[in-house]
Amino acid sequence: MDSLSEIADRVRICQDCPLGTGRTNAVPGEGPVDAEVMFIGEGPGFQEDRQGRPFVGPAGQFLDQLLADAGLSRERVFIANMIKCRPPQNRDPVPAEMAACSKYLNRQIELIDPKLIVTLGRFSLGRFFPGESISRARGRVRQKDGRAIYPIMHPAAGLRREEMKASIIQDFKALPGLLEEAARTPAAEAVVDEAPQEPPAKQLNLF
Ligand code: URA
Repeated sequence: MDSLSEIADRVRICQDCPLGTGRTNAVPGEGPVDAEVMFIGEGPGFQEDRQGRPFVGPAGQFLDQLLADAGLSRERVFIANMIKCRPPQNRDPVPAEMAACSKYLNRQIELIDPKLIVTLGRFSLGRFFPGESISRARGRVRQKDGRAIYPIMHPAAGLRREEMKASIIQDFKALPGLLEEAARTPAAEAVVDEAPQEPPAKQLNLF
C-alpha cells in the first residue's frame, strides 16, 4: 500500500474480520499525508458507519470544538481509528479485530510520519502502551518506537462525565505547545519516559 488512497481503497473492500459483513461503510480515516498530528480513536459509531467518515457523530462534534479551541483545523490533521468498521451495537473492539485491522493503521502512520500521535481513549493507548491505564497515562507525551505519543481520554467519555470533559479540554489546550516542541526535537533525542505499569485489576474502563 503506497498511498493513503490505496489504503482507503483496500479498507473499503476489506473482509479480513467479521465486521466487514455488518458495516454500511468502512471508515478508513481522513486527512492530509503531511499532517503533523494524527489522532487515533477507537472505531466507527453509528454516524461514522453511515457516512464513511471518522468522528462525525456527537463525539466528533466535541472533537471539532476541541480542535478549534487548540487552533487546529480538521483539514490539517489526520483522524484515524483502531478499527475501520463499526462493531455491532457499538461494542468494544476485540483483539482479533484490532489485529486484523492493524496493517492499515500501521501503514497510515508510516506514510504520514506525524510529529505527534494523539491517542484518544484506552484502545489506541493500548496499541502503544499495552496494559496501561488511561487515567494515569493521559496528558503526558511519551516516546515509543521513535514516535511521540500523547494520550488523551476519549471525547465520548467527556460527553458522559463532566470531570473527564475538563481533563480532555485541559489536555487539548496543551497541544499547540507540544506540537511546537515535537517539531523542534528529533525523535532520537527525545527523552524516553517509561511509566511503571499498573496491574490490570486496578484499571478503570474509562474509554
Ligand atoms: N469514536 C471513535 O473512536 N471513532 C470515531 O470515528 C467516532 C467515534
